[in-house]
Amino acid sequence: MAIMNQTEPPVHAAWDDYVHIGPGTLGGRYMRTFWHPVYRAQDLQPGRAAPIQVLGERVTLYRGESGRPYLIAFRCAHRGSQLSVGWIEGDDLHCRYHGWAYGGNGQCVLQPGEDEDYASKIRVPAYPAEEHLGLIFVYLGEGEPPELRRFPDFDRPGVLEAPTSIERFMVRDDLSSNAKRKILCDNVKTLYGMK
Ligand code: FES
Repeated sequence: MAIMNQTEPPVHAAWDDYVHIGPGTLGGRYMRTFWHPVYRAQDLQPGRAAPIQVLGERVTLYRGESGRPYLIAFRCAHRGSQLSVGWIEGDDLHCRYHGWAYGGNGQCVLQPGEDEDYASKIRVPAYPAEEHLGLIFVYLGEGEPPELRRFPDFDRPGVLEAPTSIERFMVRDDLSSNAKRKILCDNVKTLYGMK
């Protein structure tokens, strides 16, 4: 049985390479310390999978029948079939080729035709994925991810008004004209990065 090695080849990170964001690059390591919004939640219905590319890596985004989003490797560990063309049962993604199934943590949980305990030895890369504000965010860094920043104001029903700093200044009648002028100048300078 052929098992695919999905480990990325080593990349030599040049200290002056600020352009590339693939695994192992300087910029890539930095960008992997953040959560990234990668998909509109409404476009990924329960039981569906999508092939996507994030920070130079091809991966499989899918939503389990429970509604939870997951991000795992692009290819099956068996013969490298593209996992996004597989099917979903419960929260497991089944490979279309020989039916191996993976949980959202990348652990192989089913291998029709193999010894029963062999599945426990197979795992593909998997990454944290969370839904917030109608978007699916993923984290491709190593170790425990930082907490995904929440914006509770946007979660509430209704319309949120966010006036600009200049509009806020306009409604403050208690300031003298000189103070208003100074705040306005400061705001404009901040806006355009002037000193
Ligand atoms: S390629 Fe064989 S189960 Fe995926």
